[in-house]
Amino acid sequence: MIKEVKNNHLFWDGCDTVELAKTYGTPLYVISETAVVNECQAFQQSFIQKYENVRVAYASKAFNTLAMLKIIEREGLCLDVVSGGELFTAIKADFPAEHIEFNGNNKSIEELEMAIDYGVGRIIVDGIQEIELIRAICRQKDTTANILFRITPEVNVSTHEFISTGQKDSKFGIPLDEEILFPVIQQAIDAPEINFYGIHFHIGSQLSDNSTHLAAARVALGLILEINQRFDYTVKELNYGGGFGVTYTKDDIRQPYSYFLDPLMALTESFCREHGLTRPAIVIEPGRSVVAEAGISLHTIGAIKDLPGIRKYASIDGGMTDNIRPGLYQAQYEGILANKAEETATETVTISGKACESTDILVKDIQVPTIESGDIFATFATGAYGYAMASNYNKLPIPAVVLVKEGQADVIVARQSYEQIIQNERIPDTLK
Ligand SMILES: Cc1ncc(COP(=O)(O)O)c(C=O)c1O
Repeated sequence: MIKEVKNNHLFWDGCDTVELAKTYGTPLYVISETAVVNECQAFQQSFIQKYENVRVAYASKAFNTLAMLKIIEREGLCLDVVSGGELFTAIKADFPAEHIEFNGNNKSIEELEMAIDYGVGRIIVDGIQEIELIRAICRQKDTTANILFRITPEVNVSTHEFISTGQKDSKFGIPLDEEILFPVIQQAIDAPEINFYGIHFHIGSQLSDNSTHLAAARVALGLILEINQRFDYTVKELNYGGGFGVTYTKDDIRQPYSYFLDPLMALTESFCREHGLTRPAIVIEPGRSVVAEAGISLHTIGAIKDLPGIRKYASIDGGMTDNIRPGLYQAQYEGILANKAEETATETVTISGKACESTDILVKDIQVPTIESGDIFATFATGAYGYAMASNYNKLPIPAVVLVKEGQADVIVARQSYEQIIQNERIPDTLK
């Protein structure tokens, strides 16, 4: 049981969240190790152990820290990184290079060199210029790189437009145009520095309907058949991306992984059988679903502003700086007063952040027990894209992260100090 209520307090993986707030201060991210492990095991059971020649690469953009990458490796998942910083963290966590794949729509030369030096297992090429860069680096270093091409499969996704990526008008991926895609594939097949593995797509995030994954998979499968016929080349790998939705509010439908993966595997296997193709390795890249529901955020209620007949605002000691998602794409959250967890709701309040932006509203019109300054507000499902997207806007420090497991708590990211916020700033002599 990750979430429990005891003695009027919210407990998270065995830890009293009110005590956590006292000990470590707020704002605080709290991640349940048990919940993360449960998700990894769900992927083990519904995919890795169920099908041959498949892998799960955790999309670490959702939450990338040394400790999290240690858990991911221990639980038998591979890793997806999208920047030099994420890769650097993986290297520092001793994440095995061959289990890392490197995504990103504008990888710099330095990032590509770093990936090639470390020997990452796959580079997912996102644009046609990237292949030349990789070839040049490999030639210079007298080595080779294993690559896939990310395509835009031109499918429309039912999620917020800001988190949909598979449509033609997207900055991600190589378009399906004949004159663009096939020459670059031909190049990859012929280039001595390149081991061409296959095709990748990622169509969007927070999806609860499998139809777009299936539509995109049909496109990718059609492409590997075409590659086989045109170039007499057998594609070795297909990457179907991530995007599996989670529960933020009671309106969200969380589907089991098998709902997406079983039809995808059935489609892939039947297509390959029908066309006499060897079924390629299948890789998926979930981020959000591995960590979102494992995490909560704790904030202390400060100023309360009651506008009778209009709205009651209760401000927290963080907000868009530790969770930009409501401001960025109207994401909805649920939460409770962690120190009044058994009390009945008596009023409707809007939980507002402390940043100087009117859009800094964490939860609008939520029912809570009588709210007072000093109460601890716990927001659920903040494990993905919360800490990962945190900023120093208004020079607010990035909060600490504690990892909890069966009553034990460990700080895995210390709270940033004011000194650390300004550590890279300099006053030029002309201003002294
Ligand atoms: C290339 C790629 N793979 C995987 C993911 C992870 O998606 P999600 O967190 O929705 O599972 C993303 C998210 O943006 C992505 O861009």
